[in-house]
Amino acid sequence: MMKVIKTITALQEEIKAYKQANKTIGLVTTMGALHEGHASLIKAASEENDVAVVSVFVNPTQFGPTEDLDSYPRTLDADCRLAEGMGADVVFAPTPQEMYPSADMTWVEVTGNITKVLCGATRPIHFRGVATVVAKFFNLVQPDKAYFGQKDAQQVQVLQRMVRDLFFPLELRVMPIIREADGLAKSSRNTYLSAAERQSALILSQSLRAVQDSFAQGERTTAKLLEQVTNQIKTEPMAVIDYVSLYQLPDLTECPVQLSGRSLLAVAVKFGNTRLIDNVILEDK
Ligand code: PAJ
Repeated sequence: MMKVIKTITALQEEIKAYKQANKTIGLVTTMGALHEGHASLIKAASEENDVAVVSVFVNPTQFGPTEDLDSYPRTLDADCRLAEGMGADVVFAPTPQEMYPSADMTWVEVTGNITKVLCGATRPIHFRGVATVVAKFFNLVQPDKAYFGQKDAQQVQVLQRMVRDLFFPLELRVMPIIREADGLAKSSRNTYLSAAERQSALILSQSLRAVQDSFAQGERTTAKLLEQVTNQIKTEPMAVIDYVSLYQLPDLTECPVQLSGRSLLAVAVKFGNTRLIDNVILEDK
């Protein structure tokens, strides 16, 4: 039977017992409203470790003052059913008070381009909130492996940096983007979309697939690849572009005029009030 744990004390007891029994631990951190993207991470965590722990916590410190903290979907019962179905042993669903007991607190902040570009440009406190809460979960759960989705490509780079800089003794596993049958990347925020917005949003995956084709056919000029994606997204009247950008991996530095190595083409586009992200990695085989 899967356990649902709400307090840090109870979680620490459970983890202590796992450690004493020499069990390997896989961790999946989430904000709930779980879908097949999360499910793929939980499945991998349970297959690759003795026990799988899933955190469900809408982390207030990663939301800006005008963002959707209050309206973010909260569906704990359904989340527990999905997690259990994917093989989770524990769902840890703490209150904000448990995770942030006082206003004076310790932050974990990754500095540099990696948190300034892309989503960092319009969400200045976001990655500080993500790094802080994930560091707390790492310390509480002490996982051998922690699972993250390529859907949030910048988050993956930031957390890889944090793991390296703070010597967290764990392996960060990055899993592929899970999409709807028509290509839309699964996201808890997709439920905000009207039918018309949902249809328009297909332009994201379509334009990224098209640029992958151009890259495969030999196009390497950074400006041309960016222009192709931008122009295709602009054919969709409901799409309001936040960014269409190309950066070099792993540190999200500027790309040269001609692409080489491994690069991240990432987009953030608003449809109505809903901001969606998607990305593709361009890399020579
Ligand atoms: P959340 O958006 O709930 O995502 C939890 C994890 O699921 C992240 O690693 C994310 O990349 C992954 N994920 C989401 N959609 C996916 C998809 N379509 N395919 C594959 N993986 C997908 O990301 C967060 O929560 C938070 O920032 C968190 C790390 C939990 C810190 O609060």
